[in-house]
Amino acid sequence: MEGKIHVLIPEEKVQARLDELAAQINADYEGKQIHLICVLKGGVFAACELAKRITLPLTMDFMSVSSYGDATVSSGLVRIVKDLDEPIENKHVLIAEDIIDSGNTLHHLLEILTSRRPADIQICTLLDKPDRRTAQVEVKYTGFSIPDKFVIGCGLDYKQLYRNLPYVGVIE
Ligand code: IMP
Ligand code: MG
Repeated sequence: MEGKIHVLIPEEKVQARLDELAAQINADYEGKQIHLICVLKGGVFAACELAKRITLPLTMDFMSVSSYGDATVSSGLVRIVKDLDEPIENKHVLIAEDIIDSGNTLHHLLEILTSRRPADIQICTLLDKPDRRTAQVEVKYTGFSIPDKFVIGCGLDYKQLYRNLPYVGVIE
């Protein structure tokens, strides 16, 4: 899989889309305080880039989850590797994600977080691969819908590498 990297979404487009998403979030949450949850590790780029653009009062927390069992076929269950530090009860929770693929991770994460009684809970994802969806998830803010290709950059890794690329790429 190691080879040349083909740019799928250039940095300028990623930045411009983040500006648009944040503008929409600023308008939608006017008068409210946002509790931004970053899903580690991939969501860190989306979370920081959004946080910088959100002009409303904002708090952040971090969570890390992993799928149970086999890495290629998701069992549909998620394990909390690192839980949030703070309770989310009555908070306006916004989850920042890098990508939604099968939707399994977020579907189960939403179940866990909803049971903690936030005021409301929404998802913002930089990328979406709708062709691969097997679990139902409602996503309010999507950066880009992309074809079913394995992508890297903007928080997304291949064997833990390439998260730092400022664009979305595909390894040829
Ligand atoms: P889901 O539960 O199938 O939606 O899994 C989403 C997770 O799989 C993401 O948070 C990523 O960590 C990983 N993932 C899915 N597609 C890609 C990709 O194209 N590149 C890198 N990681 C990916
Ligand atoms: Mg992720």
